[in-house]
Amino acid sequence: MNKPNDLARLPVDHDDISSNDSSNEHFNTVLNARLSRRALLRGGAASAAGALLGSIGLSACGGSSDGSVATAPVTPTTPAPTEKLLGFQAVSKSLADAVVVPAGYTATVLYALGDPLTAATPAYKNDGTDTDFENRAGDHHDGMEYFALSADGKPSVSANDRGLLAINHEATTDEKLASFFLHANGGTTTLPRPAAEVDKEVAIHGLAVVEVRKNGAKWEYAKDSAFNRRVTPLTDIEISGPARGNALMVTKYSPNGTRTRGTLNNCGTGKTPWNTFLTGEENWSGYFTRSSTDDTARGNDKSVASLKRYGRNQGDASRHGWETAGNEDKYARWNISKTGTSADGSDDYRNEMNGMGYIVEMDAYDKTRLAKKRTALGRYAHESAAFGKPVAGQPLAVYMGDDSRNEYIYKFVSAAAWSAADASAADRISVGDKYLDTGKLYVAKFNADGTGQWIELSISNPAISGYATYKFADQADVVVNARLAADAVGATKMDRPEWCSVNPANGEIYFALTNNSNRRVEPSGSSQAAPDAANPRVYTDMKGSTAQQGNPNGHILRIKEGAAGSAATSFQWDVYLFGAEAKAAAGNVNLSSLTEDQDFSSPDGIAFSQATGICWFQTDDGAYTDVTNCMMVAGIPGQVGDGKKVTLTYPRANGTNLTVDTYVGKAATADTLKRFLVGPVACEITGLAETPDGKALFVNIQHPGENTASANIADPAKYTSQWPSNAGYGSGKRPRSATIVITKNDGGRIGT
Ligand code: FEO
Ligand code: CA
Ligand code: CA
Repeated sequence: MNKPNDLARLPVDHDDISSNDSSNEHFNTVLNARLSRRALLRGGAASAAGALLGSIGLSACGGSSDGSVATAPVTPTTPAPTEKLLGFQAVSKSLADAVVVPAGYTATVLYALGDPLTAATPAYKNDGTDTDFENRAGDHHDGMEYFALSADGKPSVSANDRGLLAINHEATTDEKLASFFLHANGGTTTLPRPAAEVDKEVAIHGLAVVEVRKNGAKWEYAKDSAFNRRVTPLTDIEISGPARGNALMVTKYSPNGTRTRGTLNNCGTGKTPWNTFLTGEENWSGYFTRSSTDDTARGNDKSVASLKRYGRNQGDASRHGWETAGNEDKYARWNISKTGTSADGSDDYRNEMNGMGYIVEMDAYDKTRLAKKRTALGRYAHESAAFGKPVAGQPLAVYMGDDSRNEYIYKFVSAAAWSAADASAADRISVGDKYLDTGKLYVAKFNADGTGQWIELSISNPAISGYATYKFADQADVVVNARLAADAVGATKMDRPEWCSVNPANGEIYFALTNNSNRRVEPSGSSQAAPDAANPRVYTDMKGSTAQQGNPNGHILRIKEGAAGSAATSFQWDVYLFGAEAKAAAGNVNLSSLTEDQDFSSPDGIAFSQATGICWFQTDDGAYTDVTNCMMVAGIPGQVGDGKKVTLTYPRANGTNLTVDTYVGKAATADTLKRFLVGPVACEITGLAETPDGKALFVNIQHPGENTASANIADPAKYTSQWPSNAGYGSGKRPRSATIVITKNDGGRIGT
């Protein structure tokens, strides 16, 4: 999501790069050959499995191409359909209040805000009178993963017609405190907030697990599934890893610092090699308030430096005013001022914010298990968590970004070496304990020559243990205050790292850097940063008559680990694509030579298809929205080093020039990069999950119509979007965040 101060919301060794030029085409040839071989095999096996299941008369929703069936040795008797990756016709930019997909594809609404998740929950009226959101779909659908279910309801890695979607419900559409579409009259925009409104607003945050299945050719969600589950900001969650039981985690709710309530502002996701769900807590800080005298109340101790670094100055108001709804503890916990007299914080919520900001692991298949906050992966504004390709006998690497302007890119490396047997373990959360609670956390430093380093955030590093700004007590303090530790070691300030994803073809790691309104040739103040090799652009993008400064359109950076693989401490990098308008200057803005069928702004979600290898990316943009709604683009990338070095020259006020070298990947062609989808008005496109065969793609449409003025709540004609009701889904005209499923009319794989 965009924060209010976002730009979007206001209005290798270089010789090695050159030598790799010729190998790029070779690499793509190899990749395409490999993918089409796999398609051929899949086509044959799938037909055979379908025929077999048909003959034993399984119902459509229970029918499955589960591993044991689909991998049976069968000789294909019919030729596989010919398929060409990115064979579809590119979708044009659009301002329509509709989901637009290429000819030959169908997008169907599957699961929207308020939809019941139990048989007993009434249908959603969508008029602001609905309650019981603990048993309904939450709001602002975001990251999402698919967990396959076999015909008999067991965890699977290959079932294509029944599965669980684990979905982040990040936030809600709000204005002046209230989540106005949730309340009949738009809600109360002054303090105190009524408890009945707050209870609804809290419950639409968090996570959902919802079963989806095919009924004939049609996908449906199963409102009565026993797997359906909500996790809200009030659900009990365990603290795991180095911070468990640490003094920083002590609260009135958990005096021994081992538990907290809920997960909040869940943005990107991840899926572990052992088939559990990971969710990143992003803009949680804004939900808490601190009194205007709290620095003094805390004796100006080191917690003040931590709170400021994580965005809570004394006197900061909370986003929704939830702390004002009553004296009950569930409201009081949103006020993180020191109000008690204890020395350790066990009588108030002064440490409550230390319980948010993690990668949280949940077993989507087992709602009896508590989710766990994996503190070893660091505390910051998390997006997705992407695993490097697991290699037996080597540690696992998890890549992550911190989405705020000028924040950092991180990597966690497990202490335990990967054992392939763990992929199918029955106790999945215990496998998480093994790999995600003990290891090393690193932060990235990008060099001007196209190389970079992973710098370990360890209490034994003198730069950290001796850091003047904040005195770290122990390693738990380092992971809880990872931003401060990363500051101490001089990590590279990035243009808002959003999701990352790993290319299954070669293990390279892609990071969406969405935009940065604070990049300046001559920075003023500590909030601005000068362009550098990995964040090289500073330009002006006009939106109507509004001049947007910095890097309004963002870019997609990629990393190739050194020879040590997951444990490497050095890497090579380049920029896969620079976001830009097609009409923008080729020399310094449209550096990737994007065409009208390819141009985009503010990449956010990014995920490689495990079935086709396509790199899908999605936008959460406010810079190009005068021309087009947000979108999803399909790419077939090459590899780090397949492009060239570019030198950007920026004049300074004193008449001298600043020059910045950067490395741009080989320009895409009409066959390797195409716009696939454009969403309805004022939405963000996010979340991407697929069936293992790649024939159903699940995508989220977040906050359509979010720029509606709350004063217009009574007049649907003044809503800026009426999606998805205008697509024939559900009651009422209030816009709703929703999951859609995309299928190809000929039954083929998505993106072909
Ligand atoms: Fe929730 Fe940074 O996107
Ligand atoms: Ca523009
Ligand atoms: Ca995001």
